[in-house]
Amino acid sequence: MNKRSDNGFFGEYGGQYIAEILRPALKELETSYNHYRNDKDFIEEFHSTLKNFVGRPTPLLFAENVTKLIGGADIYLKLEGLANTGAHKINNAVGQALLAKKMGKKKIIAETGAGQHGVATASACARLGLECEIFMGEIDVARQRPNVFWMEMFGAKVTPVTSGTKTLKDAVNEALREWSKRKDDTFYILGSALGPYPYPDMVRDFQSIIGREVRDQMKGYFNNLPDAMVACVGGGSNSIGFFTEFLDDTSVTLIGVEAGGIGDNPGEHASRITGEGGSTGIVQGYKSIFLQDDNGQLLATHSISAGLDYAGIGPQLAYLADTKRITFTKAYDNEVIEALQLFAKHEGIIPALESSHALAAAIKIAKEYGAGKKIIVNVSGRGDKDIFIVAKALGGDVWLNFLKQEIVRIEGGM
Ligand SMILES: Cc1ncc(COP(=O)(O)O)c(C=O)c1O
Repeated sequence: MNKRSDNGFFGEYGGQYIAEILRPALKELETSYNHYRNDKDFIEEFHSTLKNFVGRPTPLLFAENVTKLIGGADIYLKLEGLANTGAHKINNAVGQALLAKKMGKKKIIAETGAGQHGVATASACARLGLECEIFMGEIDVARQRPNVFWMEMFGAKVTPVTSGTKTLKDAVNEALREWSKRKDDTFYILGSALGPYPYPDMVRDFQSIIGREVRDQMKGYFNNLPDAMVACVGGGSNSIGFFTEFLDDTSVTLIGVEAGGIGDNPGEHASRITGEGGSTGIVQGYKSIFLQDDNGQLLATHSISAGLDYAGIGPQLAYLADTKRITFTKAYDNEVIEALQLFAKHEGIIPALESSHALAAAIKIAKEYGAGKKIIVNVSGRGDKDIFIVAKALGGDVWLNFLKQEIVRIEGGM
């Protein structure tokens, strides 16, 4: 199975479609990464940081109560939300920040949408003593204030991006622009398994710790391979990190779950593979499948989870969809909320809305597969960050009143 890109390409997808001015920076990154990924000291430092700072290995939990309730296949949960800063994003942020240090870079820049990658990057920079600037669309700055608060607490500068739609894709453009101006002393930490080569390879490699741990941990529960593995797919970093270790085990069905949003019409979802409007294009430095119109303009997307609300998908994921090694499905917003409630109530975990897409799909798959089969789900993050959205979705007058009272309390200086 094609685990690494072939000169930056996975089949027809991938590549380095970038302005000439960025070519030297990407060449330097490619050369350095290809050196350090085989460097014993670098690998040791990465693993000791994952252990002592990130808190790895994250647990693999048998979801005994939900399994009994559903009466189907056994469901196991890889709890990435228990990593420092609450999601898998930190694995990659730490890896790239360590690489930046080795390359002698003084400053880190990154883009963020929902803020999880921004928080993870700012945290890694605080730990490693690197200057950090996060580019974030102005709209996202307004709606993700708690994450902005933590990034600033970690000492990062958060720069609101006011161009275009003032969201994630504009933040990426701005970060790339900044990088082209300051490539000598600046390193760009990209947050998902996409963008120009070598990012898709590098992000996957740093995230592959997830699947490697699973292979080890599942021996504590059963001797054979799982029947299916399920992960949500935004850009693709948690899913490819979870699946890579098992790509050659063809008896294991790998299932990627996209955001079904509120419906199947354009603008209502972010389903690049399973929805209407997905076609091959070149955007932000890489060739892949994007939700776009006939003129190649990106379509608007919607998802209850900010982390899956993106029009593109990483090139390796697009390739694995074409070759049918990964099967894709989707979960709608309402199913996602139901899954979150079920796992919170019966397993005592708070899954992120992104991860709850994988859980919603797993419930259906467990019923379909039946007793005796085994499914492992990657719970990519925890959902504390989603409290505003979840409380509102569950019709929370109590929550609304709490927020109003809190404003009164703050303004009254109490
Ligand atoms: C918890 C969580 N899971 C999943 C994702 C989706 O990204 P990816 O597909 O790169 O894992 C995000 C993105 O912010 C996230 O925060």
